[in-house]
Amino acid sequence: MTVLYVIACGSPVARDVGRLITLGQKKNFNVCLVPTESARPFLDIPALAELTGNPVRSTFKHPGEPDLLPLPDAIIVAPATVNTINKWAAGAADTLALALLIEAHGLGIPIVAVPYTNSAMARHPAFQESLVRLKSWGVRVLYGDEVVKLHPPRAAHRADFPWHLALRALGEGWEA
Ligand SMILES: Cc1cc2nc3c(=O)[nH]c(=O)nc-3n(C[C@H](O)[C@H](O)[C@H](O)COP(=O)(O)O)c2cc1C
Repeated sequence: MTVLYVIACGSPVARDVGRLITLGQKKNFNVCLVPTESARPFLDIPALAELTGNPVRSTFKHPGEPDLLPLPDAIIVAPATVNTINKWAAGAADTLALALLIEAHGLGIPIVAVPYTNSAMARHPAFQESLVRLKSWGVRVLYGDEVVKLHPPRAAHRADFPWHLALRALGEGWEA
């Protein structure tokens, strides 16, 4: 079975990541969820472990421990925070999620990212430059008003996050 890693970052949008997991499972993916530490407070971890049938990992295994997850064939980062986008584009690997993304680049594993933040944070030049950088490396970055309109700071988060577009962006040939 084709293995899809879903990396969810620290945004309230992560609360709905179960939607992406279910959509992926309908396409016959074995979905593994890797939330960042900041994403975990938004998530019901036991329910998502049950939904995926896989452990929900955020931290590195201890030396000598076996790998708990199968290797990924594709990765979706959604929602992708400003923090993770910037660190990823800088090549940082100090979280499990980032290390997986850095390694995936070397392995040629397809990656889709759906950044999400408020309109003020989105204007930071580092974030804009990081998006350009990631795209230049072949990451399929779904970003812009046509994907998801950004909200102003302290406004309610959007309920219409485009989970289905993330899966679609992986392209054809993934259905088992
Ligand atoms: C309630 C709350 C909502 C947040 N929403 C977002 C968001 O939508 N996008 C974003 O980029 N950061 C958001 N942040 C900030 C990130 O959680 C923070 O930068 C964190 O360090 C991200 O870590 P991560 O990239 O490892 O997930 C939010 C923080 C809080 C407390």
